[in-house]
Amino acid sequence: MNVVVVGSLNMDVFIPVDTYPGSGETVKGGNAKYLPGGKGANQALAAARQGANVTMVGMVGADANGEALRASLEADGVNCSLVQTFDGPTGIAFVHLEKDGSNRIILSSGANDAFLPDRAEAYKDLVAHADAVLFQLEIPIETVGMLVRVAMEAGVPTYLDPAPARSDVFTHIPKVDWITPNEHEAQLLTGIKVVDATSARLACAKLQQLGAKRVLLKVGSQGTYVADENGLFYQPGIAVPVVDTTAAGDAFTAAFVVEYLRGESVYGAARMACAAGALAVTRLGAQPSLPYRDEVVGFLETVDAALSSKTETTPRE
Ligand code: RIB
Repeated sequence: MNVVVVGSLNMDVFIPVDTYPGSGETVKGGNAKYLPGGKGANQALAAARQGANVTMVGMVGADANGEALRASLEADGVNCSLVQTFDGPTGIAFVHLEKDGSNRIILSSGANDAFLPDRAEAYKDLVAHADAVLFQLEIPIETVGMLVRVAMEAGVPTYLDPAPARSDVFTHIPKVDWITPNEHEAQLLTGIKVVDATSARLACAKLQQLGAKRVLLKVGSQGTYVADENGLFYQPGIAVPVVDTTAAGDAFTAAFVVEYLRGESVYGAARMACAAGALAVTRLGAQPSLPYRDEVVGFLETVDAALSSKTETTPRE
């Protein structure tokens, strides 16, 4: 299966922090770690680790970070021969990592912002012949809009991760096959705060009215809601010890896409996606945390075994 990912490549600089500085204040954090990331590159690598044949489309700078990002993807077989080099810096994400594994990210887009529609013209044919194309919003939205249209016209399934969040997504991208927001992005797009199944249903319906055929609404450790032509379905999350939530959503989306392309039902694909996301949060970093398919399958077997042993040992009334 041929998956094309159109998006960002960033070098992530992780700094563990206890507290955030206020204005004019300096706080000491832990040792910084430079780890490959970027929503596009993460999804490309995650899809390759799930067994897809992946081509990355995007831009890096002419610097050591750009080289390191290509190398990280190529190590797992992602085709980076079409990644362009920009005469400027590679994107950098400053990830402030809190003790509970949550993060705050400041993005310096660098080369990602230079990936304007004129540079993306060359990829129309590639996109039109893929089995699926994944997009996010860390490159110019005009470029995303242009290539989504090409894919939709060619009948190629499109997946849009509307992150970083912005409210004007459907102005630029009127139609998409799947949208994969988290609660925060869903609220920005629909005005509906997702707190339970009822609000999730309303938010998904609104997203479908706005232009998404189907919705994968990620609710963090709680799991996901899937809205398609058969209605709404909830897949619960899997509880794990949290180290770092960075790129869990990328692992989730890529696992869903690849399983679905393999012919799995939305239910089976959503279950694999939740397991991939759960595994990713148990590890530090974006790309180092992305699980391989065997790991996800093995993890689900462990979860099932634990559940069935609990059922077996439950005393009968
Ligand atoms: O989705 C996670 C990614 O978001 C990080 O790798 C970082 O680069 C930010 O863009």
